[in-house]
Parts: sequence; structure tokens; C-alpha cells
Amino acid sequence: MGRGGGQKKEGPSLEIKLGPLMLKNPVMAASGTFGYGEEYAGIVPLGNLGAIITKGLSLEPRKGNPPPRLAETPSGMLNAIGLENVGLKIFLKEKMPFLRKARCPVLVNIFGARAEEYAELARKLSEVEGVAGVEINVSCPNLKAGGAIFASEARSVHQVVSKVRRATSSFVMVKLSPNVADIVKIARAAEEAGADAVSLINTLTGLAIDARTRTPILGNITGGLSGPAIKPIGLRMVWQAAQCVRIPVVGMGGIGSAEDALEYLIAGATAVQVGTAHFIDPKAGMKIVDGIQHYMRVNDISNLTELIGSLKVRRDSGPVA
Ligand SMILES: Cc1cc2nc3c(=O)[nH]c(=O)nc-3n(C[C@H](O)[C@H](O)[C@H](O)COP(=O)(O)O)c2cc1C
Repeated sequence: MGRGGGQKKEGPSLEIKLGPLMLKNPVMAASGTFGYGEEYAGIVPLGNLGAIITKGLSLEPRKGNPPPRLAETPSGMLNAIGLENVGLKIFLKEKMPFLRKARCPVLVNIFGARAEEYAELARKLSEVEGVAGVEINVSCPNLKAGGAIFASEARSVHQVVSKVRRATSSFVMVKLSPNVADIVKIARAAEEAGADAVSLINTLTGLAIDARTRTPILGNITGGLSGPAIKPIGLRMVWQAAQCVRIPVVGMGGIGSAEDALEYLIAGATAVQVGTAHFIDPKAGMKIVDGIQHYMRVNDISNLTELIGSLKVRRDSGPVA
């Protein structure tokens, strides 16, 4: 009741259940685009986000790729950072004290060159106060399988997720690569191996060339394409995956506005991640939260679950996923 005796109207609920996790809203900051949270803390109240996903972490520190590491493209960017990071020890000592105080769940994005490394990271992180779970980045060369990325084969995804599942009872989300022929097969492998959720899409491999010098623009030659240019691919893959797995699907790729995020939810995503847009506007994520709430109010939607997977398609149209 308000002071004047009037009824206080409750806003629509943005709360969402992601496997065992309860999020206050479905908008997360994507790995590698939000640092370790601290970099954005003076500008964005981190508690306004559904969750933060930290920069990819390996057991040992990594220097990353030679420069240049970024190239602008029409409607997007290419990056070849090379998973530079501080390594587990420094992360725990220098980054976690701040993250522990962030008023939203913290998920740690992890990677390794062997399934055992992923499992060791997951096990060690499960003992750390303030870590809500891990996001496994399988877009990493599998040394045991001769250097092909884990993400490209259902068998290696299954192997790495099973090992991580045995190592932790905390939340495990598997981040899938779009650089595969059949996303459904890979999503199913992650689910069968015990993942609590899948997130997609990571960046698409691309190449930028300087025609004057006839050289690649990036020091690493190729890089990962992100931003608005990849949204239709992300939407298609999320839509396909969401129809084929029972675990929640978290969508990303080119989300820069509430409308983009809503499209992903309608395609079947339970939550979304905002990446490249944070480089243009650090407040992009929290503005998207407000925009989703506004849309729900205007359209008289009281609960997000009414939106998720609500894409209307004629049964006789489109490809079979
Ligand atoms: C500079 C940069 C660094 C990234 N680093 C990581 C990373 O460490 N781990 C990871 O899983 N994804 C990483 N990504 C991928 C993003 O999390 C996201 O999947 C991708 O950029 C697509 O979303 P977007 O179009 O909203 O950026 C990175 C992306 C960018 C642009």
C-alpha cells in the first residue's frame, strides 16, 4: 500500500530459473567483454545484471596472441585476443575479492588444452566462495585430439563435460561454437554429459585483409567475428538447439538492444548474454534489462516464461531442426 492508500502496482517479473540458479533477470555480461567486472564497476551497478561471466580462465596465466588483436568490420568486429588471462592463482587472489562483493551471480568462463585441465579448474573453483558456477569454453584446441577444437566434435564435447561434471556439483554451462556443421548434435552431447545449460554462440572464425600491403590485419591471421553481423546466425542456432535439448539455452551474438534480446528469448533462449555491445556502451546490459521490462509491461506479460520459445512458425514451414 502506498502512503495515500493506493495499491502499489507490481511490475512484471524478470526472475528466471537457469537450471539450479535463480537469476533476478535474464541478462548476463558475456565472457571476455566485461573483464573481471571491476573494470566496469564505476559505471555500471553490477547488481543490475542477471550474472557476470568473467574473462576466460586457464590454470596457468596466458599472454595471448601478438598484436594487432582487433579489427573493425561492417556491423561487427574481429578479435584475436588469444584467451590472455591472469591464470587461476592470481584470479583467486586479485579478482575474486572484488567479484565476491558484486551483487549478482558470478560465473567463471574456463578453458584448457586437455579435458583434465577443465575438470581441475571446475573442481578448484567449486570450493571458492562467491563462484556460482562455470561456463566451459570448448572453442579451444584439444591437444590430445591433435589440435582440433573440442567444440567441433560431439565426442570431445561429451568427454570434457563428463569430466567437469564428475569434478563439481556446482552449475555447469557449456558454451558452444558456431563453427560446426551440426549445432544440435553438439548441444545434445553437452546435455547427455550432464551440463546444466548450454550457451551459444561464441564468435565465428573470420579473416581481415589489408589490400594495400596484401597482409592479414590481425597478428594471429584469423580472428573471431562478433557483434550485430552475427545475430541471425545466433538466432538460428539458439532456435535449433532449444528445440532439441531439455536443459536451458542461453543465447548471444549481436545483442545490443532489448529488441535483440527479446528475439533470442522468443527463439527459445531462457537468458541472454551481451558482449560486443558493452564496448560501445558499458550500460548496454542494464539498458536491455529496462527495455525487456518495458516490453513486458506494454504487452501485459507478467512472467518471462510466457515469452521463451514463443516463436510462431507454421508446422509445414521451414527446415526440420
Ligand atoms: C574481445 C572479445 C573477447 C572474448 N573472450 C572470450 C572468452 O574469453 N571466452 C569466451 O567463451 N568467449 C569470449 N568471447 C566471445 C563472447 O563472449 C561472445 O560469445 C561473442 O562475442 C558473441 O557475442 P556478441 O556478438 O554479443 O559479442 C569474446 C568476445 C570478444 C569480442
